[in-house]
Amino acid sequence: SEGKEILPRPPVVTVMGHVDHGKTSLLDALRQTSVAANEAGGITQHLGAFVVSMQSGASITFLDTPGHAAFSAMRARGAAVTDIVVLVVAADDGVMPQTLEAISHAKAANVPIVVAVNKCDKPAANSERVKLQLASEGLLLEDMGGDIQLVEVSALKKTGLDNLEEALLLQAEVMNLKARVDGPAQAYVVEARLHKGRGPLATAIVKAGTLVCGQHVVVGSEWGRIRAIRDVVGNLAERATPAMPVEIEGLKGLPMAGDDIIVVQSEERARMLSAGRKKKFERDRLLKISNGRAEELEQSEE
Ligand code: GTP
Ligand code: NA
Ligand code: MG
Repeated sequence: SEGKEILPRPPVVTVMGHVDHGKTSLLDALRQTSVAANEAGGITQHLGAFVVSMQSGASITFLDTPGHAAFSAMRARGAAVTDIVVLVVAADDGVMPQTLEAISHAKAANVPIVVAVNKCDKPAANSERVKLQLASEGLLLEDMGGDIQLVEVSALKKTGLDNLEEALLLQAEVMNLKARVDGPAQAYVVEARLHKGRGPLATAIVKAGTLVCGQHVVVGSEWGRIRAIRDVVGNLAERATPAMPVEIEGLKGLPMAGDDIIVVQSEERARMLSAGRKKKFERDRLLKISNGRAEELEQSEE
């Protein structure tokens, strides 16, 4: 059955949590382990995503996007790229408003949570209190007979990181994550930026199929032909397979986080589809504005 091969794929993980609870520090710490493991020289990783490769051969893809905003934007656009949310809770601070927000985002998207209680190196750390707080928010932790894993870490001292990675792999195993590898790619933009020399660049994650250099694509309402694919350390690649974060070059305009990427047969088809989507987006935008005006009017009449 050509084009139908379904293979296990790495989990795609997003880190969320309250302000200053250590999301960036934790990602940095995890990224260092991945850089140390993969690149002896420690090449700077420049994508909004990175991959931690384990000795077992398993790997985990982390999305490095600034938490909630990107996650919500993607969810609103129906882009379910995240398999697992790491909920970072500072052990001294405990559950805070944005912790609750993260929990409700994850729940709404039906994405399982793995809790990382961070800053466990601090004298004021109290992970028992965090557990009780989470339980009272309805999170069924393993400790209490549920199935949500909780790991104590310190991003600062780099402790507990192996346990966190193991917990994520275990969660992934339970989810039995698989993807079709052959055939046209279905992918999503994680973030996009304009590069002076190279033009619009999009960090993308393939959900299914394989994205190949040279293909014509429609990305959100933009279009282009893939001129280059780079992996997380900036090396050129011929193709991108599921859960592998890549940077693609060759788009005519700048897409948005959450935009879908579809492969089409020709430039003509790409232009047509893009033009159609642009029209639809503009119509939706105008409709939104006029709805907003109508609401304003209603309110001012009350
Ligand atoms: P925002 O992106 O602003 O929401 O913050 P964040 O969640 O990314 O937190 P960040 O990584 O910026 O860390 C906030 C502060 O906590 C910094 O001063 C870090 O050095 C400190 N910090 C992070 N992790 C740890 C830790 O494990 N132990 C201790 N003691 N401090 C930590
Ligand atoms: Na911060
Ligand atoms: Mg941060």
